[in-house]
Amino acid sequence: MTGFKVAVLANLKKNAPKSAGLAEDHWDDLDSETTVAALVGAIEAGGHRCVFHEGNADLYDRLREDRPDICFNICEGHFGDGREAQVPALLEMLRIPYTGSKVLALALALDKPMTKRVLTWHDLPTPAFQTFENRDEALDDDMLFPLFVKPSREGTGMGVSARSIVRTEAELREQLDYIVNRYNQTALVERFISGREITLGLVGNISGVAARRLPSRFYNSGRRDYSEAGLAALKAGGMTFMPPMEVDLAPYKETDAVYSNRLKTDLADQVGYMVPAPLPGPLVRELNWLTAAVFRVIGCHDVARVDFRLDEHDNFKPYILEINPLPGLAPEISDLVIEANAIGISHTELVNMILEAAIMRYGLTTGRAISLPR
Ligand SMILES: Nc1ncnc2c1ncn2[C@@H]1O[C@H](COP(=O)(O)OP(=O)(O)O)[C@@H](O)[C@H]1O
Ligand SMILES: [Mg+2]
Repeated sequence: MTGFKVAVLANLKKNAPKSAGLAEDHWDDLDSETTVAALVGAIEAGGHRCVFHEGNADLYDRLREDRPDICFNICEGHFGDGREAQVPALLEMLRIPYTGSKVLALALALDKPMTKRVLTWHDLPTPAFQTFENRDEALDDDMLFPLFVKPSREGTGMGVSARSIVRTEAELREQLDYIVNRYNQTALVERFISGREITLGLVGNISGVAARRLPSRFYNSGRRDYSEAGLAALKAGGMTFMPPMEVDLAPYKETDAVYSNRLKTDLADQVGYMVPAPLPGPLVRELNWLTAAVFRVIGCHDVARVDFRLDEHDNFKPYILEINPLPGLAPEISDLVIEANAIGISHTELVNMILEAAIMRYGLTTGRAISLPR
């Protein structure tokens, strides 16, 4: 399976539009030249030809000329509530295959409250929540302090700091004001889950594109299958689970206490990780199952990473915080890459596993696309 013409599509931080009034961390989810060079190098090492294109408004014309067989898409987009879905939408107009999740899943996962509504419908555990369009809306009776306030549609810990944990009405109102005005969007308020910070990645797909939902026995049935055999079925269906990674927040207990923007950017090379996280086997299997379940109900493809907190006040019950269908792929830095490295999967191999998952999903054969994107 070699010889494809691949285009890496990304939004480089250095090319981000510079407009006044944006928060200091506004572009923190965009990618570095080092990451893009590593992706291109990895894809070439996989035996393909590879070029890079910036995912901006010129992309449409460039792709029409260039016509890659498949794109390796990691575009986060710049503006708009569906910004991660913009490049995929354009690729679908051009009928060019691409790696990773598609338009609906990307737009959905970017919106944390919408994602939580879908998770809740499927009875998947996510913290109780309420959204706020302004600082003055009344807090629901069942939303008990301490609470956690974050932007509804950001990533990379943007707008997340120790101040996100609010213990009083006054703190809540102040933080709502900050998020709504600074990030110009709805604020998501959740029950604060005090406990360990775990993230789990996966690569691949369970089966064909048509099967979007887990089989019914996997949800709402009270018969969730956390057994080795149950997981083996998912693995046999083409899914590779990365080991759970724990972010060691202990050194930051007094300053951050959560996986903040500061820890994810300025201190990224200092934060300690435990991978595999020291967790009992049944809990690891439950986390694997939940990761796969979220992936399926959100309709993701090829790769994703799910963030959890384990409630220290409730026997380490896992709560789903969010799904990242475009997890960072920076060598040595990004969580998914660290998880893969821990089980002997190099950055190059990881990138080619994602590419291969997409190639198989589209049914492409060597050299030229024979089937059109579904
Ligand atoms: N409800 C919550 N309770 C406790 N901590 C939370 C909660 N929501 C978010 N956090 C903390 O904030 C971090 C970032 O939140 P997350 O929803 O994963 O957004 P991002 O897209 O920025 O990664 C989490 O990794 C966790 O440390
Ligand atoms: Mg997160």
